[in-house]
Amino acid sequence: MKGQNFSRRDFLKSSVALGAASLLPGQLITAKDKSREVGAKQSGRLEKSASGGRMVAISSENGFRATEKAMELLRQGADPLDAVIAGVNIVENDPEDITVGYGGLPNEEGVVELDASVMHGPTHNAGAVAALRNIKNPSKVAKLVMERTAHVLLVGEGALKFARAHGFKEENLLTEKARRIWLRRKETLSENDYWYPPKSDELEKELQAYVASHGTINCCALDAQGNLAGVTTTSGFFFKIPGRVGDSPIIGAGLYVDNNIGAAGSTGLGEANLLTLASFQVVNLMGQGLSPEEAGLRVLKMVVEKARLWPHRLDDRGRPRFSLNFYIINKKGEYAGVTIWQGRRYAVHDGVRNQLKESAYLFKRD
Ligand code: GLY
Repeated sequence: MKGQNFSRRDFLKSSVALGAASLLPGQLITAKDKSREVGAKQSGRLEKSASGGRMVAISSENGFRATEKAMELLRQGADPLDAVIAGVNIVENDPEDITVGYGGLPNEEGVVELDASVMHGPTHNAGAVAALRNIKNPSKVAKLVMERTAHVLLVGEGALKFARAHGFKEENLLTEKARRIWLRRKETLSENDYWYPPKSDELEKELQAYVASHGTINCCALDAQGNLAGVTTTSGFFFKIPGRVGDSPIIGAGLYVDNNIGAAGSTGLGEANLLTLASFQVVNLMGQGLSPEEAGLRVLKMVVEKARLWPHRLDDRGRPRFSLNFYIINKKGEYAGVTIWQGRRYAVHDGVRNQLKESAYLFKRD
């Protein structure tokens, strides 16, 4: 707990003690049963996990390897937060994903600035970093903010100093590919400046591919004990104004977890999410009894309603020109991917199979 000398180990110990105290005389729990019990209920009663021991890991489409890894670790009994962080680290370290971590596309000055948040259901605690430079794995730094500070969010220079203090290696995150895409954008931005593009169009395809699909990765998981956790990590918008912070590191926007209800995380236009705190709203609606898909679509409808007030973000039929996507699990292990526009997929491992599935959507593409 923040600001108190009360570690997660203490928390788990006291929870186990509370759980054990509620056993009836002569009642035995086998190891198998134990993996299906929730030992950390606030009530102190030992109950069956709502999911009946089911494990789920869900992620954005670029997180297929993340859900695979997270499930592997959940099966080994890892904490769900460690499982999802290990999952997204694969993508943060991959230079081919130009929307996350190393190789992410830079801001307008050619500098990569990363945002990330983590949230741990059992302790209802969170950590986040924003506009962090030179550190490949902002999700790991976010976890340390949660565990080793009295704060939730560190930004910019302060976040970098904190990462340095914890021994993170600084490196140039701008890959050759990202630098070339950035330079091309700079050279084609205006006809009234002094930068000229090359004659060849070889980068046009890469640039278009990026413009067509927003990145970021979110991964949320439910373990066999019914505990939830999530992580969201991104390099944010390509060519953003230096210092711009999106929804990913904002608890309630890019990520929200309530261990009694469920977890939701997002990708897409961060500004639309920052103005609606949509992940919090998704979890809140699940708390009122809506399924993950119902809650996600209801919140997206509300975002689209609000978008009517943002004319620069609408097409000529008054529909949003942006995308916003959620990856959602509830306490029972039910899950959904939802999106504004048809055609987006999400990755989910349900304990049996890792798959890419079509997200439920509001608008069909023309
Ligand atoms: N959703 C990622 C961002 O807006 O930065």
